[in-house]
Amino acid sequence: MDSFRVLGPSRLVGTVAAGGAKNAALPCLAASLLGDEPLALSRVPRVRDLETMRRLLGHLGVTGEWHGDRLLLEPGGPTDPDDAPYELVKTMRASVLVLGPLTASRGHARVSLPGGCAIGVRPIDQHLAGLEALGAEIRLEHGYVEARASRLVGARFRFSVPSVTGTENLLMAATLAEGTTVLENCAREPEVVDLARLLGAMGARIEGAGGGTIRIDGVAALHGAEHEVIPDRIEGGTYLIGAALTGGDVRLVGALAGDLVPMLEILAACGCRVDVEGDGIRLARPGPLAPRDVITAAFPGFPTDLQAQYVALMTRAEGTATIVETVFENRMQHVAELARMGADIRLDGNTARVHGPARLSGARVMATDLRASACLVLAALAAEGETVIDRIYHLDRGYEAMESKLAALGARVERRTDSGSDSGEGRG
Ligand code: UD1
Repeated sequence: MDSFRVLGPSRLVGTVAAGGAKNAALPCLAASLLGDEPLALSRVPRVRDLETMRRLLGHLGVTGEWHGDRLLLEPGGPTDPDDAPYELVKTMRASVLVLGPLTASRGHARVSLPGGCAIGVRPIDQHLAGLEALGAEIRLEHGYVEARASRLVGARFRFSVPSVTGTENLLMAATLAEGTTVLENCAREPEVVDLARLLGAMGARIEGAGGGTIRIDGVAALHGAEHEVIPDRIEGGTYLIGAALTGGDVRLVGALAGDLVPMLEILAACGCRVDVEGDGIRLARPGPLAPRDVITAAFPGFPTDLQAQYVALMTRAEGTATIVETVFENRMQHVAELARMGADIRLDGNTARVHGPARLSGARVMATDLRASACLVLAALAAEGETVIDRIYHLDRGYEAMESKLAALGARVERRTDSGSDSGEGRG
């Protein structure tokens, strides 16, 4: 099992390129199940979650071939059998994204229930209620959800919570339904918009993605398409927070600043200089870091996927910041590990009060989930001495070549590959 060894403190300075968005690419891959023509996706990040989805699609008869950051998906291969098994779903919750497209295109789907994950219970009731509204018959048995429909029929459905993958699942399912579907209280995340763009290129008729209400006029069939995945706002945001934390100066290129506005506004309020120049965002922190409170929320709020990294940042602020996690119920596990590095944080349920500035010192810490891992790497950059972060497989689910990107910015980070006994897999 791999670990990272980080020698701090260091200052991140230089230019880093944004990779493709993992959370946008995942539903785009799943969309290949909707038709029988190839999809050519570019700017697909080579991270473990994408590899898991590629394997799952292979199992479902879609072969995926990498050409650099391009992934060519060809439907029509043998299926073995036509379901999403527990072994694949347990390592990645987003496997549930095959449920909508399979039901719509093949009239049948059998997908293992994802179960709990490191950051909370994360039910999929909204995915199921939405498919039922479109006429699917849903059965839960032996840890699997089974959906059947000879052809889905357009309907009006209102999400009780604006679920990102729930919106994506229903968006995909409705493209092939008979008649019109209106989805209300949808997730507005840029990743939903990116999927709608791909589906549009495949011939789907969708209006309103990015807003609360999306209207889909079903079509009989979809065709092949080419699509470039949007840049990863969470990966990019992580490097910019790293610049803020280390008093550095980083230019993120190939980014969409509009997708990062909530975070950039907060970082500017903390005393960072933020310049948006074309497709680049330059962030520098020339002076002291001011504490600012944050409450996570669905887009366009402050993203829950940057909360852990922001907590790491606030450990170095001159004063107290309160960070409230509202999206997931168990997403503060990084706090205990940060405390081991010298952070002064009082945790009360989902509210963290971070008292800064703390003198962070290197320690042996353990990554507990994807974004918590990124938080520990950032803290290690600001800490005195050596930090060893175990269970880096969590990080590999969503960050491409993080150690080389950080090294190019002046960090001293190395990956160590141990053939140790603990080879646990992450869920999320
Ligand atoms: C996606 C992202 C994840 C991000 C999250 C919130 C992907 C692959 N993952 O996860 O990185 O942290 O959005 O921005 O895109 N909920 C229900 N019932 C449902 C579905 C969700 O109650 O059927 C609740 C969840 O428990 C959570 C909230 O809704 O409290 C938001 O979850 P959701 O948007 O569904 O997260 P994911 O799509 O799983």
